[in-house]
Amino acid sequence: MTTRQQPQDRQAFWLEQSKRLEWFKEPTKSGDVSWDAKDFHIKWFEDGVLNASYQCLDRHLLRRGDKTAIIWEGDDPSVSEKITYREVHEEVSRMGNVLKARGVRKGDRVIIYMPMVPEAAYAMLACARIGAVHSVVFGGFSPEALASRIEDCGAVAVITADEARRGGKTVPLKKNVDAAIEKAGAAGEAVRLVLTVRVTGAKVNFEDGRDLWWHTSRDDVTRYCPPEKMAAEDPLFILYTSGSTGKPKGVVHTTGGYMTYASYTHELVFQVEEQDVYWCTADVGWITGHSYIVYGPLANGVTTLMFEGVPTYPDASRMWQVVDKHRVAQLYTAPTAIRALMREGDEFVKKTDRGSLKLLGTVGEPINPEAWRWYHDVVGDGRCPVVDTWWQTETGGVMISPLPGDAMDKPGSATKPLPGIVPALVDNDGHILEGATEGNLVLLESWPGQARGVWGDQERFIQTYFTTYPGRYFTGDGARRDEDGDYWITGRVDDVLNVSGHRMGTAEIESALVAHPATAEAAVVGYPHDIKGQGVHCYVILKQGVAATEELAEELKQAVRTEIGPVATPDRMQIAPGLPKTRSGKIMRRILRKIAEGHPDQLGDTSTLAEPAVVDSLIEGAKKFE
Ligand code: PRX
Repeated sequence: MTTRQQPQDRQAFWLEQSKRLEWFKEPTKSGDVSWDAKDFHIKWFEDGVLNASYQCLDRHLLRRGDKTAIIWEGDDPSVSEKITYREVHEEVSRMGNVLKARGVRKGDRVIIYMPMVPEAAYAMLACARIGAVHSVVFGGFSPEALASRIEDCGAVAVITADEARRGGKTVPLKKNVDAAIEKAGAAGEAVRLVLTVRVTGAKVNFEDGRDLWWHTSRDDVTRYCPPEKMAAEDPLFILYTSGSTGKPKGVVHTTGGYMTYASYTHELVFQVEEQDVYWCTADVGWITGHSYIVYGPLANGVTTLMFEGVPTYPDASRMWQVVDKHRVAQLYTAPTAIRALMREGDEFVKKTDRGSLKLLGTVGEPINPEAWRWYHDVVGDGRCPVVDTWWQTETGGVMISPLPGDAMDKPGSATKPLPGIVPALVDNDGHILEGATEGNLVLLESWPGQARGVWGDQERFIQTYFTTYPGRYFTGDGARRDEDGDYWITGRVDDVLNVSGHRMGTAEIESALVAHPATAEAAVVGYPHDIKGQGVHCYVILKQGVAATEELAEELKQAVRTEIGPVATPDRMQIAPGLPKTRSGKIMRRILRKIAEGHPDQLGDTSTLAEPAVVDSLIEGAKKFE
């Protein structure tokens, strides 16, 4: 059981929290928020003026100039580097100046498509420094996905690398950027600059007048770039994330509230001491990388570790070897990685020391108690608290989590909201449920780290999050609350999948499948997967006359990879004769889910089915996956 104080006066509490930043002009106002669709606005610290890169760098120079800001651990275990706050400050300044020299201005959008190298952090901070709005696109996304983001945000520049290195393999990032710009048509032509970091030294195409190498252009500019003065509500970044309908949305975070919240939560949850080395294993392409590799830790003057590789390369001991090599104190990772490493056996862990560890964190998906215990008992030798942090791209930072001093007696529970955060459970009609119960997770009050909108489509933002339960923010998650008031997140209640901690919309995968000439119709659902948390199960109906072959099933999987990227690769491709539909033609997803989950005996009420026989053939067809 955990107890924790909630502030009496939330407005005063958050204004007090804003003081952790060094503003050019301190805010006098706290929150000004209305979630009412008729008068919708979310503003925090509105009259404050600041710069996010200044928070992360300049303010530390006097006291921590020579402190390591970033430890970079390469994919190759023999390669690592330490970069001080002063050095990061110079690199970021230079990159800001290169962008400015090519006409990138305050408010312009810049896409960052990078491997996990320090330059990815420099790129984010350089944009922040000159007031450009960055949008990091995960390196595992395809040229198609990249093109649609370039188009959607109207990017004027792309920062990338020749290639990414991961687990001994390479990914042709620059080639993907060239293809994406080509695909983006007029929006691609609007990209004035592609700034490329040399990582592997691979030969890449260069377009005169558009493309620049970072390692040469950095010497053509001066080493100081003044930080742009940003209003608290000026956008800091856009991050695309999947929802239950349509294409991924560009979630917008602004400067003052986001930075306050990233700094506040990082300090509270991880309790990093001055000499500690802190390591979050996420990729900067996700919100976790934004808030807890770059902005949160650097705002707080912490030494943050960036890892280029994967947990299983060269072998399943790698993470623990990195912990020992750099004396990591706080480790923050995803349940999917824990489950994958747990399966490899304890030996890989036990042969390492891990004596430096003080705290373990998880994020991204529900953690099963077995994986929690292994993390706590084997990885942490039973010494380290485990913080199971629940939050989302849209929340900017951790919302519900144990804190290090709490009793660690509830494996799988994210426990309680952080001070200032007010969650509730509601039933499907939006009635607030009290006591020990289960329901839909909503938030009743705004907080500074809350997303401010969807880029270019504010209506969609309001529609997605604030209309299901009017006046409340709907998370899309379901949760249980126990008799102690502790929350247990049960997972998404909408059509969003969580595959290895990666968030994916079933609608996106379906549209990739339907784009294939052989497909007439497709429906995608998730099913429980031992390692990934959820696997992707596709039901595809072929067009008349197309033969169902193994080759075609493979081709359809490939089509999804090409359209979205390797992260979305379907686990199961079931070519089916039809889909279960109501007489009015609505697909009964509940039935598809039950079949994929291996519970054909729990289909529930099937009396509204137009063609009941379809279900039997689907059950039969799914047997091969058992
Ligand atoms: O379903 C919840 C799950 O991840 C979703 C948010 O995904 P994304 O925006 O990609 O951000 C992931 C990193 C913050 C949530 O709606 N989720 C996240 N953390 C947890 C979780 N589910 C259970 N327990 C968690 N600790």
